Amino acid sequence: MRDREVSRENVTELFDKISPVYDLANRIISLGVDKHWRNTLLRHIPLLPDQTLCDLATGTADQILALSKSPFIGKFYGFDLSTNMLLLGQKKLAKRGLRKKTLLQVGNALGVPVADKFCDLATISFGIRNVTEPLKCLSEMYRILKPGGSCFVLEFSIPKSKFIRAPYLFYLRHILPKIGFWISKNREAYSYLNETIESFPSGDAFLQMMKTAGFSNVKQIPLSFGIASLYLGKKN
Ligand SMILES: C[S@@+](CC[C@H](N)C(=O)[O-])C[C@H]1O[C@@H](n2cnc3c(N)ncnc32)[C@H](O)[C@@H]1O
Repeated sequence: MRDREVSRENVTELFDKISPVYDLANRIISLGVDKHWRNTLLRHIPLLPDQTLCDLATGTADQILALSKSPFIGKFYGFDLSTNMLLLGQKKLAKRGLRKKTLLQVGNALGVPVADKFCDLATISFGIRNVTEPLKCLSEMYRILKPGGSCFVLEFSIPKSKFIRAPYLFYLRHILPKIGFWISKNREAYSYLNETIESFPSGDAFLQMMKTAGFSNVKQIPLSFGIASLYLGKKN
């Protein structure tokens, strides 16, 4: 199944189904490194008081949890299409005593249910690859940000070095789908994962997409030899 053919309904159904094992699968598949990537984003949060953050495709709220360590964010909004992922996220936030600071809500990253210039920070982690129109999603992030606001996209990417790329692609194509199936008992979900990673534009192509959406000062920070990347952009 190619990602272009995956409809909004398919993606929502897929994540609703795998939600109970999503966090565990993430930890195992990334060998726990996703926590380090999420904390890298945390270190790039501007040092300004009481900022409002919108996290799109928030899933089970792991990115919000990582960012909740920042003393510079006063309020978190998380949006996702999958109710099951959000319910798990809500439980995790409540357990960490973050209920008052956070609001999770069903919401489409291609039509975020908030006003223009609503937030100071807009984030999406491992989500933009899954939305059917990534440029529209970036344009939404631009729309909801206040002038001066910052956009952060955390996403898998393809390493530039052929010494890393070859074993990584082998892992993606042959090992990851097997581990994913073993954990989730859902074959579709984890073969979909490797296809979306391989077909999604990364590096300069993604930075160009951010510029097209209106962002300036765009920058890519490769993480773990380029297996993932943090992309940053500013709204002037
Ligand atoms: C790989 S998960 C990432 C979850 C979370 N951001 C994280 O860092 O673990 C992708 C999420 O994107 C959500 N998603 C896909 N398309 C979406 C859309 N158009 N609007 C909102 N959420 C969407 C899925 O429901 C799923 O929860």
